[in-house]
Amino acid sequence: MPAIVIVGAQWGDEGKGKATDHLGSQVDYVVKFNGGNNAGHTVVIRQESGDVEKYALHLLPSGILTPGCTPVIGNGVVVDIDVLFQEIDGLEGRGVDTSKLKLSANAHVIADYNRTIDKVTERFLGSRKIGTTGRGIGPTYADKMNRIGIRVQDLFDEKILTQKVEGALELKSQILTKIYNRRAPSVEQTVEGLLAHAERLAPYVCDTGLLLSQALDRGDVVLMEAGQATLLDVDHGTYPFVTSSSAISAGACTGTGIPPTRIDQVIAIAKAYTTRVGEGPFPTELHDDNGEFLRKAGWEYGTTTGRPRRCGWMDTVITRYAARVNGVTDFVLTKLDTLTGLAELPVCVAYDVDGVRHDEMPVNQTDFHHAVPIYENLPGWTEDISGCRSFEELPKAAQEYVEFVEARSGAKISVVGVGPEREQAVVRHPLR
Ligand code: GDP
Ligand code: IMO
Ligand code: MG
Repeated sequence: MPAIVIVGAQWGDEGKGKATDHLGSQVDYVVKFNGGNNAGHTVVIRQESGDVEKYALHLLPSGILTPGCTPVIGNGVVVDIDVLFQEIDGLEGRGVDTSKLKLSANAHVIADYNRTIDKVTERFLGSRKIGTTGRGIGPTYADKMNRIGIRVQDLFDEKILTQKVEGALELKSQILTKIYNRRAPSVEQTVEGLLAHAERLAPYVCDTGLLLSQALDRGDVVLMEAGQATLLDVDHGTYPFVTSSSAISAGACTGTGIPPTRIDQVIAIAKAYTTRVGEGPFPTELHDDNGEFLRKAGWEYGTTTGRPRRCGWMDTVITRYAARVNGVTDFVLTKLDTLTGLAELPVCVAYDVDGVRHDEMPVNQTDFHHAVPIYENLPGWTEDISGCRSFEELPKAAQEYVEFVEARSGAKISVVGVGPEREQAVVRHPLR
């Protein structure tokens, strides 16, 4: 009955897509459990011909690329139906079979007014903005909690859908017109937009909680894949500079209907340095040549919005925190190859907050904003490591870097990424 969860340990874009793909052939189901098309997961596959195929997935679980694997969008996800079909059509056009996809009847749907509200709210906030992806994610989750959300199942009952849209728009149109001076969509417009693909959607929709429970009973392997990451989690992240869903391992339970007692492995993906997109505190952020080096060498530009990612040194206070709140059993340390060529590699081991040492994440937001990293400096290496396939092949300094991070992160580093391709990994302990 193995249920596995994959989460991001930092602020996202750690390489979760690659890690899911790495496990792909050993997994029967891959379930996306939170977020929506704010996520951008890159999977790079080298074909037998030698050609490299690159896929950027937003709404579909990364398992969609593995033949034989059933991709599932769980109830915890917010779905933009137009984007879903754009993505399905894009993959089908490249010869990927998407017919096995399953979508939870209880997943919430992103309505047009919520995309608008996301964008205008950010503009209204000015310097206090979150830096969202503008996809309507936050307002849609707010509606869910406010009990005025639209769910996938509502698309199959036009009367109920119309009533729900009417109810939501009663409030939203006031907000859009009176506060933001924007035109609100009419009920008919919104309903028409939501129903545009309903017929095409129907065959994918089912009770995914039941489907997954039965799969686990049969002994199938179910992998639950997080969007975003620990520090973007709405409860455990750097609130308010977070996304609006549960991105930690516990979110896999609420977002799929699989109970905690069935989960036996939690894999956290951590980059060998740190990046962040959008606003919010980031203690090890670099504004110098080293930051520029990481951005260039790691190609740190958002998969979803194309924004340059903010870059900084490795922070083990964060990875230790991620190990604690997620119950991490294994870390995958990605992009070690990006560090090649840097003479010295500072690793943050604690923070100084107004003269007081913090070994753990400060609970107080202001303290985290004031946190000054306490670094230990490790030597770098110059050898190209992208061809290494065993730990012993890595230069001594690279091995020591991995061991140093592992010793401070609170769980074993089972896999080390040395390049974007599926095979570019050093397996220290097989994940399965
Ligand atoms: P995700 O959102 O966590 O799935 O990560 P993204 O796909 O947004 O960003 C990770 C980027 O790093 C992608 O471009 C991956 O192809 C790439 N990547 C993943 N692992 C490695 C690695 O070990 N080395 C290098 N150089 N690139 C990697
Ligand atoms: P993956 O799954 C990195 C960030 C946004 C913004 C904040 C809130 O690829 O790791 P939202 O649109 O979710 O309301 O924006 O969260 N953010 C991400 N940053 N990777 C992601 O996903 C992200 N999804 C959201 O930049 O700061
Ligand atoms: Mg990403």
